[in-house]
Amino acid sequence: LAELRGRFAAALAALADDAPQGVAAADLTPFADMVLPSQDAKFGDYQANCAMPLGKKLGKPPRDVAAQLVSALKLNDICDEPEVAGPGFINLRLRDAWLAERLTEALGDTENLGVSAVAEPRTYVLDYSSPNVAKPMHVGHIRSTAIGDALAKVLRALGHRVITDNHIGDWGTQFGMIIYGYKHFVDEAALAADAVPELSRLYRLVNQIGDHQQLAATGVPALEAKIAEAEGRVADLQAAPAQDDKKKEKQAAKKLRQAEGQLADLRKELAGAQEKLAAFEADAELSRLAAEHPAIGASALAETAKLHSGDEENVALWERFLPDCLEVMDEIYRRLGVTFDHTLGESFYHDRLAPVVEDLQAKNLARESDGAICVFLDGHDAPFLVRKKDGAFLYATTDLATIRYRMEEWRPDAILYVVDHRQSLHFEQLFATARLWGFDDLELEHVSFGTVLGDDGRPFKTRSGSAVGLMGLLDEAVERAHKILSENDDARPEPMLSADERLEAAERIGIGAIKYADLAHNRTSDYTFNYDKMLAMNGNTAAYMQYSCARVKSIFTRGGVDAASLRTPGAEIVLDSLAERALGLELLRLSETLARVAADYKPNHLTAYLFDLASRYSEFFEHCPVLKAESEELKTSRLRLCDLTARTLERGLGLLGIETVARM
Ligand code: ARG
Repeated sequence: LAELRGRFAAALAALADDAPQGVAAADLTPFADMVLPSQDAKFGDYQANCAMPLGKKLGKPPRDVAAQLVSALKLNDICDEPEVAGPGFINLRLRDAWLAERLTEALGDTENLGVSAVAEPRTYVLDYSSPNVAKPMHVGHIRSTAIGDALAKVLRALGHRVITDNHIGDWGTQFGMIIYGYKHFVDEAALAADAVPELSRLYRLVNQIGDHQQLAATGVPALEAKIAEAEGRVADLQAAPAQDDKKKEKQAAKKLRQAEGQLADLRKELAGAQEKLAAFEADAELSRLAAEHPAIGASALAETAKLHSGDEENVALWERFLPDCLEVMDEIYRRLGVTFDHTLGESFYHDRLAPVVEDLQAKNLARESDGAICVFLDGHDAPFLVRKKDGAFLYATTDLATIRYRMEEWRPDAILYVVDHRQSLHFEQLFATARLWGFDDLELEHVSFGTVLGDDGRPFKTRSGSAVGLMGLLDEAVERAHKILSENDDARPEPMLSADERLEAAERIGIGAIKYADLAHNRTSDYTFNYDKMLAMNGNTAAYMQYSCARVKSIFTRGGVDAASLRTPGAEIVLDSLAERALGLELLRLSETLARVAADYKPNHLTAYLFDLASRYSEFFEHCPVLKAESEELKTSRLRLCDLTARTLERGLGLLGIETVARM
């Protein structure tokens, strides 16, 4: 695709010679990006739809533009004669000989399978996973981790320099909460026996008390006020005089329905909140604690503030608890097979925060407002707070210090933040501030993602109360994979997997299923977490891809063929039948697929590609006998296609952080 676009750009530049005044070659070459894979094989392999907009620009009929473009195109080494269709579509069909040559190259390229490195490598810093370590990790962290890890691998495969940095929250209010919890509610014996569950319990307890106090003090009254307001609105609308005009009448009725809907939603919300409060109050122990520790949220904040100001006791507690918190986090990463180049958490930046605020003030970018230090940004109502009235620094301040540090240390061209969409306002303001601050030729990108939902359509929650939340989730996927795998294997006349092989495969399939489900959904949308769907053997799932890969490889075992022996330089590949050609073409699309992933930071292009590739392979397998091919030459060629398919699937899955399985 890159090659085709290059040729198009050259031909487009030539059109500028007889273009109307004021249209330069540089205005035309970008239209080369409109060369895209065809939606339908009828229209060739690739299609260019640029003649229509170009016709407008040049004041000529699109078909004429297309014809002119075709005659300027130098493509005959790559493509058959281009065809102009309909209003001016240019259809391109790659020459079989050219395809076969590229496949030979890919086959011989053990490492990259024909994917060449970008001409201008960039340096990327990838900020992903980044959990707050004093509280239990949740399913959203898998999302950030899986997407970030896949992007890092894809960008590296394209020849970029990538630095991964896990920006953990190891210094924030969560620590104040466990310190407060420790000081008042600790069970020393439990802490000594196994620290993390006890720390999680303390976190949850303080959090729960705080939530309910907040709900009672402000949450419920605020909802009640909103309801009163909504009731007033409904009453007003009901009392409004009838309209003589039909259209207006309809509009009024619609407004009333909307207002009633809002009122009903608010009432439901209030009922939910009251129910929660009632359940809380019914718990005598919790109610007693809540009464004994009023405004626990503020007390926890005070503990955080003491930690930050160097209070000896709190710093000692922080140092004592942190390693345990990091250990549970690392266990998850080991299980997921994810590593980071750096883990520079918020605490690392503590001493770098004051200078940031000073610098912003010195440059007149930040100023005092109501005792706080703020950056006022165009287009934003709320200012970006970098220091609170009480002198505390914020999440924002740390992120600014982090940008500065990363720039000094690594000089990246881009920093990507793989973080939940709910933080989009924070990142908008952060990026705007960073630009004002002088980092204006740095690409800053919030690679945001949607929420993981449960079957009930609400944010997915791991079984509450258990400290092993996220680990339990992985365990369950692996257990289910083991069950499916064993049932399938036991149903065979002769089971093919040993107990150990089943365990090993189940681990790869279970973890792969969770990652793949996450990556296969467009990251910007929400998706429903569902074990049955993600573990299905059919459809766009990890299990299907792993199965496809194992199936392709099984040909070599059955035929007693050493795949590596097929990869000789100049190894010939025949593309005589439609299915062979379609498979060959798909195999060569790995390169453009990775480029797409790198262009919009969406790994789902790669899952979709792998799924297509597996389908092309199935069609090929159905129509083209491999081990029983008509001739030895054809057999070798087809085995080469199989080898390249297996390696492409394996490579693609590998870039998604998913391991393959020898047999399943
Ligand atoms: N620790 C944060 C959280 O859990 C995410 C941090 C994302 N990275 C960043 N540089 N802000 O919400």
